[in-house]
Amino acid sequence: MSLESDSPRLPRRLSAPAPSWTRETDVVVVGSGAAGLAAALAVRPVRDVLVVTKDLLAAGSTQWAQGGLAGVLHPEDTIEDHVRDTLAAGAGLCDEDVVRELVAEAPTSIRYLMRLGAAFDPDPDADQIALTREGGHSHDRIVHSGGDRSGAEVQRTLDQSAMNAGVRVMERAFALDLLQGAGADGERQVTGVRIALTDPTGTLESVGTVFARAVVIAGGGFGQVFASTSNPPAVTGDGVAMAMRAGLPARDLEFVQFHPTVMWSGRRARGQQALVSEAVRGEGAILFDGAGQRVMEGVHPLEDLAPRDVVAAAISRRMAAAPGGVGDHVFLDATHLGERFYDRFPSITAACRRLGIDPATERIPVAPAAHYVCGGIEAALDGSTALRGLYVVGEAANTGVHGANRLASNSLTEAVVAGTRVGRDLAWELPPESRSEVPLAEPVGLVDPDRLTGLRAAMSRHVGVVRDATSLDAAAAAVAEAVVADAAVMPSRQAFEATNLLTVAAGVVAAAGRRTESRGCHRRSDHPEPRDEWRCHQTVTIEGDGRLSVARSPLGS
Ligand code: SIN
Repeated sequence: MSLESDSPRLPRRLSAPAPSWTRETDVVVVGSGAAGLAAALAVRPVRDVLVVTKDLLAAGSTQWAQGGLAGVLHPEDTIEDHVRDTLAAGAGLCDEDVVRELVAEAPTSIRYLMRLGAAFDPDPDADQIALTREGGHSHDRIVHSGGDRSGAEVQRTLDQSAMNAGVRVMERAFALDLLQGAGADGERQVTGVRIALTDPTGTLESVGTVFARAVVIAGGGFGQVFASTSNPPAVTGDGVAMAMRAGLPARDLEFVQFHPTVMWSGRRARGQQALVSEAVRGEGAILFDGAGQRVMEGVHPLEDLAPRDVVAAAISRRMAAAPGGVGDHVFLDATHLGERFYDRFPSITAACRRLGIDPATERIPVAPAAHYVCGGIEAALDGSTALRGLYVVGEAANTGVHGANRLASNSLTEAVVAGTRVGRDLAWELPPESRSEVPLAEPVGLVDPDRLTGLRAAMSRHVGVVRDATSLDAAAAAVAEAVVADAAVMPSRQAFEATNLLTVAAGVVAAAGRRTESRGCHRRSDHPEPRDEWRCHQTVTIEGDGRLSVARSPLGS
């Protein structure tokens, strides 16, 4: 382990007024996307469960997922092939046993969603659900809904099922910090979570405590650390940062996946950008550069359907060369679909039209943007972590399924599989009751949200698809400058989010700076090849003084 002596000191709790109310429940789920709602739904028949969400139910990433869920459903497809594709995309860092478990459970989870009422698109030529293909898949195995509105259908299905099952939801409830105590055996465990209620503008209304026997973090990733991302504004790393503040290691944070084809809407575009699903390339679309040359020809045997990291890196190289004078985007040509594009991809059609583009006749300008965090809090596929009573599922977790680069459409599948597992396990048995309380760290203030603009620009510029030592040093300097916990910053949703974003950004930069190789979605121009000695995980931990430590940990640990 190495303590980052130049690491900024990160707050070990979010500053907020003393709690004025308390609530008790068996299980509290933090986050209301696919993973959180699947967990709540599975535990509800037996336990009292409360879902807390800092916004409204559908504000997270699930709602925006276009592609769908990957699972072996075609008679010619096999579990072995899905495992092989996942391991190949993961570039040597997947945990094969966990991948096998996920892939084996995926078809059941998809059928479970259908039983709950999810309307996946039928195949018009056969009496079955339509299956499509995305990058890195050797078979058609992605179920989708409403063409490219798969995530919205999963969210709708789970929202409705959770409501019907009597899951209670607390909206505009920001989970600040985990509360800890010790059981009769002396082992440290989670006892609940401190919550800030805010109004729709993010202004603090009150602070309270929810006591629970188990806390499930399903708070998603942190695409909003970057200036340009496919993620909605709510995706600010809150669950990952909260678990890190409780002392849990975050693993493989350097592996941030950049989606190759996010719609390019101009040089000044910032924040959430429209996704152009990989399924568009699955249906035959081809990437061209500004000079009209193919981008993926000769780069990978699967060409435009190569794994996502390969396509994003190839596009970045091409943009750096600026053929035809176009250096900030390339073009996706789906015109072979003609007007069929409109029905198959209605959301993308709408986004194109907002830019004045007709995808049936014109090429779509696209560029890579931050999309998915392969790393996260170290957890098993059943959500269990090193801290008793704490479970982490979905994008906030690092289970070993995605390795150094997630295979397309494995994420919603993982969210439903892991969420359902943790819910069923907690329905069966809760952790023991705690006997004592461990006081929270002293508050040191919050980060001013105004610091985020500079941080995001620095993250996109220096920790993007391709990095090197110089850029990572510049990013470390930008993080150090931005991480100023200021007691004068008033508690608000925006200040909590800024503090969380800085916390995860510091972790990403520390891990990326140490990994001197290129693997999966961590690409370094100064270390362009993978190295055997780096076939391991890295963990980043907030130590007692608020500084980060970084350590290597073996695969399968
Ligand atoms: C996409 O539709 O391209 C995104 C799917 C995913 O991220 O798995």
